[in-house]
Amino acid sequence: MSTAPLLEANNLAVRYPNGELALHDVTFKIKSPSFMAIIGPNGSGKSTLVKTFLGLIKPFKGHISVNGYDSVKKSGKIRKMVRYVPQRDRIELTVPMKVKDIVLMGRLLKKLPPRIASSKDTKIARNALEQVDMADLWNRPFPELSGGQRQRVLVARALAGEGSILVLDEPLAGTDTESQDLIVKALGMYHKENDVSIIMVTHDLNPIHTLVHEVLLLKNTIVGIGEPCSVMDPDLMRKVYGPTARIVEYAGHRYCMTQDSGIDRHD
Ligand SMILES: Nc1ncnc2c1ncn2[C@@H]1O[C@H](COP(=O)(O)OP(=O)(O)OP(=O)(O)O)[C@@H](O)[C@H]1O
Ligand SMILES: [Mg+2]
Repeated sequence: MSTAPLLEANNLAVRYPNGELALHDVTFKIKSPSFMAIIGPNGSGKSTLVKTFLGLIKPFKGHISVNGYDSVKKSGKIRKMVRYVPQRDRIELTVPMKVKDIVLMGRLLKKLPPRIASSKDTKIARNALEQVDMADLWNRPFPELSGGQRQRVLVARALAGEGSILVLDEPLAGTDTESQDLIVKALGMYHKENDVSIIMVTHDLNPIHTLVHEVLLLKNTIVGIGEPCSVMDPDLMRKVYGPTARIVEYAGHRYCMTQDSGIDRHD
């Protein structure tokens, strides 16, 4: 097994073609394997960071690597290692794909053509849907599902895939508490039972605070990094979410109340 860090960035800056400097002076290291969260307000560069380490965007300055592979020079290697659930699902909803097709895609896309599902693929896909309590919807057209159900299917697709790193950009967005619990439990179990790192972008640390080893707090650069409780710090939170952010301690837990994200809790 490689001992390279899961993520390592050196003096990274990312500029969009319109001139927007989405990330600057980003330097950090996260060891592998890990279950980590990337948090920060809207526009703080979370999705940009993800797209950069996946090799989808080139840095303007500096470098970032995944398991020791440089995002520019080794993007092919990185794509093979990573299963990625983007922030907004890019699946064309007018295409009448069934739930099973979506989940099987997670296994078939990395195969060479002809991409035919084996009985093993089908078994793994069904099992992944069971993890998020969606096995009953195997034959349902994907566009007919609710937003939260779709998120669960997309998480199942990632669980069914192969590769040592799972990257999920806001997988809990638009889901109710029940769906959130199912997704979080499935990811937590998957991380424990498999040698897989999970990188999750989230607005709300609350549902995953007991699972996460490290938190990266972004506001276009690194504002905080470390265990969830060290990042859940009043000064840091105010720096990122503004002067109205408050840390409230209640029954042994720390809650962060922000205008941006509601309430985040951490022990
Ligand atoms: N394709 C693009 N072209 C130009 N600017 C962009 C593009 N994508 C993002 N940006 C800008 O870069 C900054 C960071 O955006 P990014 O999407 O990474 O933020 P985010 O933290 O993921 O936000 P959110 O919580 O809303 O998902 C923002 O100011 C955004 O306007
Ligand atoms: Mg985003």
